[in-house]
Amino acid sequence: AQIEKGGFDHFMLKEIFDQPGSLTDCLRGRLDMENLTLTLAGVEEHMSVFSQAKRIIIVACGTSWHAGLVAEYMIETLCRIPVEVEYASEFRYRNPVVGEGDVLIAISQSGETADTLVAIEKAKEAGAFIFGVVNAVGSSIARLSHSGAYTHAGPEIGVASTKAFTAQLTVLAMMAIKIGREKKTVTEAEYNRYLAELALIPEKVKAVLETHESIKEVAKHYADARDFLFLGRGYNFPVALEGALKLKEISYIHAEGYPAAEMKHGPIALVDENLPVLFIATKDAYYEKIVSNIQEIKARKGMVIAVISEGDTLIRGMADHVMVVPEVDELLAPLVSVIPTQILSYYIGVLRGLDVDKPRNLAKSVTVE
Ligand code: G6P
Repeated sequence: AQIEKGGFDHFMLKEIFDQPGSLTDCLRGRLDMENLTLTLAGVEEHMSVFSQAKRIIIVACGTSWHAGLVAEYMIETLCRIPVEVEYASEFRYRNPVVGEGDVLIAISQSGETADTLVAIEKAKEAGAFIFGVVNAVGSSIARLSHSGAYTHAGPEIGVASTKAFTAQLTVLAMMAIKIGREKKTVTEAEYNRYLAELALIPEKVKAVLETHESIKEVAKHYADARDFLFLGRGYNFPVALEGALKLKEISYIHAEGYPAAEMKHGPIALVDENLPVLFIATKDAYYEKIVSNIQEIKARKGMVIAVISEGDTLIRGMADHVMVVPEVDELLAPLVSVIPTQILSYYIGVLRGLDVDKPRNLAKSVTVE
């Protein structure tokens, strides 16, 4: 096992550090910067289904569901197609309105999650077109789908999903860019800019990984926390949910993710000098808004940790601790802003002496409902 871990202490850390490579694998044969093209065979073969879709329904569980939430923002922005994101377990039992003209995207690392499988079967029977975004080649969900795109992240062993999530985001971004270009809701200039941004992602992720020692230092300050709040807006809202999920899975610290503005309607009641609040606060259209949300927490003596963009001195001056990431177009921001939360959760779990690769009560693949 030591060899399989490639010199890392745990699979989770290895898989976090795999990401520049796994994302390169995910882009390989798809993104061609010499000819400025993006090829996604599973989408192109059925392009009219996507471009004429009345709506897109995304079903998934766990971390994959968070990738679905990011995709909702991506697809609605770039393709102007209405998107709904559902927990597979709810969708399958609630007699949903679904049928011909609907596209159902199922996202799954393992391709074997029972609830997601049944959700697909139901939508398929009702006449929807099923597209699988799956990591495990040849898995049940891949076989049940009409078409799909593999994430090519390689085997993920750690129970907490890391590299599979970023590969899912990459595939979903490529889909949105591709379909948006077909529908002309993405201009040629925007298309070229997104392609250039995509090409830089593996390097930017690598730059975040290089800061892991300073994230480890941050972890030392918060390893004894009892609760944690994660806040973000826009594309970074699902990253807040994912950050909270990762922390609770690995460290058993109670953590909640929330849209930053919504905290006023509840979580703010918990804020005192003992509550760490982690903001995903990279430079995007919501920046000013998130700055005032941070002020609201500081005014109540909460401890603020912030994921910020390089060169941001304003939030650096307000926060107790920061984790810095390179600037990225907001569409792709989750790909880099999630990385510090993965590393932080990992080190907090390790500092608490826990088995981060196999947290209690959790399974890598949930094949029973
Ligand atoms: C389990 C795993 C999670 C995963 C979820 C969905 O809960 O521990 O990491 O996100 O299942 O799994 P899937 O394989 O469908 O993505």
